[in-house]
Amino acid sequence: MKVAFWSLTGLLLASSLQAFATDATAVYTKGGGNPAAMACITCHGAEGEGMAAAGFPRLAGLSADYMKKQLGDYLSGDRANPIMQPIAAALTPEEVEAVTTMLASKPAPKVKKIGRAAEAQTLGAILALRGAWERNIPECVACHGPSGVGVGDAFPPLAGQSAQYLSSQLNAWRQGTRKNDPNDLMGHIARKLTDDEIKAVSAYFASLNEAGAAQ
Ligand code: HEC
Ligand code: HEC
Repeated sequence: MKVAFWSLTGLLLASSLQAFATDATAVYTKGGGNPAAMACITCHGAEGEGMAAAGFPRLAGLSADYMKKQLGDYLSGDRANPIMQPIAAALTPEEVEAVTTMLASKPAPKVKKIGRAAEAQTLGAILALRGAWERNIPECVACHGPSGVGVGDAFPPLAGQSAQYLSSQLNAWRQGTRKNDPNDLMGHIARKLTDDEIKAVSAYFASLNEAGAAQ
């Protein structure tokens, strides 16, 4: 009787400890405690690499603070999206903390760093490296870093994202469904870009690899 009591207590203790330590991999691969917090892996890929053809973004190697901000912005509606809003709403703060920390520690794709001084021939490269200052459009690398690899927690990487995803975000700013950027930094830029420019600059950043720019 006594033995049974202690082993039962042990079991209860072990299961309550497990409930406290949020398992980031379980959230990513199986979803959160709330069934509406769907498994991230379904859309963001086995290693957080995203799904280019579907326009699902890469999360591997993004700043944890940037991702936490985005999940909060989906929740508040500053970044309106019918897929991510219910998922962000269903995640607990502990699950958000765990899964974003885990994803931030994954490797980002390697790209050759191309800065302002590099040659720029195509429309995409010119916007990325020179901007269009006559229309008050700064070069993207001024904020997003050489090759758009991202800078700190505020400026996310553009390299390693698909052209579909990049152009969908620029269009979201143009349409006003994404308005989560401080001081309208991106909205101001996106509204000045033409359709052809959005296509070209998105294709440019999506084409970057270890050898340089393929576009
Ligand atoms: C059914 C598909 C789907 C699932 C499941 C999913 N996502 Fe997403 N996620 C998306 C899409 C689509 C976007 C881009 C939405 C937009 O345009 O704003 C996105 C965007 C994001 C972003 C913003 C990335 C950026 O670069 O700004 C984060 C962070 C994110 N998801 C985290 C998660 C986490 C964490 C989970 C799992 C708990 C998850 N997602 C599950 C489809 C999904
Ligand atoms: C003045 C600084 C600045 C410049 C210049 C700039 N950006 Fe941004 N960009 C930002 C900030 C800040 C964010 C993140 C906003 C947020 O908090 O969600 C961002 C986010 C983005 C995103 C969304 C990435 C994601 O993971 O969802 C895209 C796409 C983007 N910028 C494209 C561009 C392009 C293309 C250019 C050049 C034409 C450019 N940006 C120039 C500041 C800038």
